[in-house]
Amino acid sequence: KETRNKNINKKIENLKPDTEDGKDEFLTTNQGVRINDNQNSLKSGDRGPSLLEDFILREKITHFDHERIPERVVHARGSAAHGVFKVYKPLAQFTKAKFLNDTKTETPVFVRFSTVAGSRGSSDLARDVRGFAVKLYTEEGNFDIVGNNMPVFFIQDAMKFPDLIHAVKPEPHNEIPQAASAHDTFWDFISLMPEAMHMVMWVMSDRAIPRSLRMMEGFGVHTFRLVNDEGKSCFVKFHWKPLLGVHSVAWDEALNISGRDPDFHRRDLYEAIESGNFPEWELGVQIVPEKDEHAFEFDLLDPTKLIPEEIVPVQRVGKLTLNRNPDNFFSETEQVAFHVGNIVPGIDFTNDPLMQGRLFSYTDTQLIRLGGPNFHEIPINRPVAPVHNNQRDGFMRQTINKGQVSYEPNSLGGGCPFQAKMDQGGFSSFAQRIDAKKVRERSSSFMDHFSQAKLFFNSQSEPEKNHIIDALRFELGKVETLAIRQRMLGLLSQVDRDLAQQVATGLGMPVPKAPEKPMNHSVPADGSPNRYKSVVK
Ligand code: HEM
Repeated sequence: KETRNKNINKKIENLKPDTEDGKDEFLTTNQGVRINDNQNSLKSGDRGPSLLEDFILREKITHFDHERIPERVVHARGSAAHGVFKVYKPLAQFTKAKFLNDTKTETPVFVRFSTVAGSRGSSDLARDVRGFAVKLYTEEGNFDIVGNNMPVFFIQDAMKFPDLIHAVKPEPHNEIPQAASAHDTFWDFISLMPEAMHMVMWVMSDRAIPRSLRMMEGFGVHTFRLVNDEGKSCFVKFHWKPLLGVHSVAWDEALNISGRDPDFHRRDLYEAIESGNFPEWELGVQIVPEKDEHAFEFDLLDPTKLIPEEIVPVQRVGKLTLNRNPDNFFSETEQVAFHVGNIVPGIDFTNDPLMQGRLFSYTDTQLIRLGGPNFHEIPINRPVAPVHNNQRDGFMRQTINKGQVSYEPNSLGGGCPFQAKMDQGGFSSFAQRIDAKKVRERSSSFMDHFSQAKLFFNSQSEPEKNHIIDALRFELGKVETLAIRQRMLGLLSQVDRDLAQQVATGLGMPVPKAPEKPMNHSVPADGSPNRYKSVVK
């Protein structure tokens, strides 16, 4: 409690008026009427029927009936903490973002870690990707890095996201299995999506079962832009490097822990912070000059690829410290709304087709999850930067906007004129040149699905390789449809022949003959129907 009280920052101050501690207060209704009996409903006679006029009972039961909101459609299970971020040295050369230039300011943050596939009540130890979402309450507005603990993603285009999630979530007819990926629908989809192979290597590796949320890396995944004061831009990949190092548990340990304490990660994070062992990460950036956009063997816009750190080193530019647990899980951890689209001057998007789809998805889902267009007013989502505009009304509006005028231009005075601020550092999008035909196609620069999967597998130590083989044997061993197993073996053989052979031995199946050339964007090896335009290099 003491450590918690000490770690006050601007955002915690901002939450204070909405934070309630009912200790030693009189019990009241929501209308402020004191309640004199919280044990008995109003009845006609002590054995008689309850009376409809009992507003105290009605209010209490009604509020209870409405306690639940929809869980997130993905990343439903999460744990979060407050903290601060401080940059080591000004990054003015790359970005004008104030929080990345002012070494004196501690920017308040709220970070939510999550699993992806499981429901709110599922186990922390599932083999899964972990979400690593950071909200930075900067003086220039909220900036969110909505990342994962793996640097790449399963798919290249947002069009495939609902399919991916439908495949990985419990099967619709029996809601089995709750959290793990070991089932036919997931592997069916993956076996037909060669672009997922790099990510599949990460998900089958030890990275998918972290020892602790405090011991995970975080990645923004997409290539973003930084923009400096002169309007010059460079590309950037964001990283979070845990100062405790990266650690995992072995699969049998994970199963054991899951059985004994499905809240293992949540408990670990909470207890570490309560006891003053504050987890820390360094913010890393990989900077690519604009002129080098096409200098790589892969496309910077392809979210299934990382930039090897040997080619572009990660510069550590600042520190994130989590130093305070939330006071209330629902109000903070559950109601927080992260969005890739929340950026500040000095940071901008790229044309990564996965990111572009995400820019639509987060607000859209939060409109229903958090009950309408005013969820930015929920205390945990409220910026510490001032908010003034002509948006009005909607369900659950909290702000009381004064005056006659809520439009601009106007000649009556009042409202929020935007002209006044245009020359004072407001956000303006990077003026990227675009001259192209409107097409529904995948760029041929996105078609190499195996080189980095191979790179990742070869980067693993012998025991780590064995863990990947064991994971694949376990996972594919649970798949009932033999054709799916076979397709997966075909894909694995294009990553590494020995890997495929070892998995196949575990499954008691032959490895399909390797195709002469890697099959990209088409279904491999067993002659299954080709659903995409085939691009064979
Ligand atoms: C959460 C959509 C890809 C990281 C969510 C949510 C949706 C969503 C609807 C629930 C948000 C809420 O209810 O508040 C999508 C779509 C994607 C995509 C459409 C691709 C087209 C990704 C990728 C990453 C990612 C590539 C990682 C880089 C996260 C995280 C959360 C999340 C960390 C949890 C945020 C929290 O803790 O509240 N996503 N997502 N997503 N997504 Fe994505």
